[in-house]
Amino acid sequence: MGKLFICDHPLIQHKLTYIRDENTNTKDFRELVDEVATLMAYEITRDIPLESVKVRTPVAEANGKMISGRMLGLIPILRAGLGMVDGILKLLPAAKVGHVGLYRDPETLQPVEYYVKLPTDVQQRELIVIDPMLATGGSAIMAIEALKKRGCSQIKLMCLIAAPEGVKAVQEAHPDIDIYVAAVDDYLNDHGYIIPGLGDAGDRLFGTK
Ligand code: PRP
Ligand code: URA
Repeated sequence: MGKLFICDHPLIQHKLTYIRDENTNTKDFRELVDEVATLMAYEITRDIPLESVKVRTPVAEANGKMISGRMLGLIPILRAGLGMVDGILKLLPAAKVGHVGLYRDPETLQPVEYYVKLPTDVQQRELIVIDPMLATGGSAIMAIEALKKRGCSQIKLMCLIAAPEGVKAVQEAHPDIDIYVAAVDDYLNDHGYIIPGLGDAGDRLFGTK
């Protein structure tokens, strides 16, 4: 079973509360999502292996450590996942970015795939699938399936807020995937919204609606 990591750093929790607040405007919402994505990237990269290197300081030789040439890929689920990309790239500037376009049918709540564009060497990369919301889990499950179908095997999932239902669904469908979230909320309402959640992440990021 994949692990669930709750990123409970005080800075993340503080900013998440502003993100939830209905009075937070689009500009601030976007900036806060970006900042939390950077902070979560710090947590999700904790297990990246290091290698020993030597470096000359102005006065002597020092033994240092550097990240051992990992090839990373970010896979935002369109559209709300886009809001987290730049924040992660601040820490992982060499990562390539692939896109999986899905929308959730408002009647059935089932995800519908409309776009997939991935780096050509995606199979060799460690991938982080990004989406602010993990509600029923349908979108994340389908995005991960789209990656596995194309030969990818090293995949993590990063979301801001999850419903318990979504976590369970992803863990059942993809037991090999670790999930990183800032919070697990109470439940899903009849429209598939996370309660208390933050509302519609895409609409709040892009000022639609
Ligand atoms: C939202 C959200 C997730 C999905 C989560 O996207 O960004 O992708 O819903 O729901 P699920 O876990 O039940 O699948 P939405 O379909 O509203 O599309 P958008 O990002 O284009 O607004
Ligand atoms: N998608 C959102 O944007 N918000 C939710 O609460 C659920 C799905």
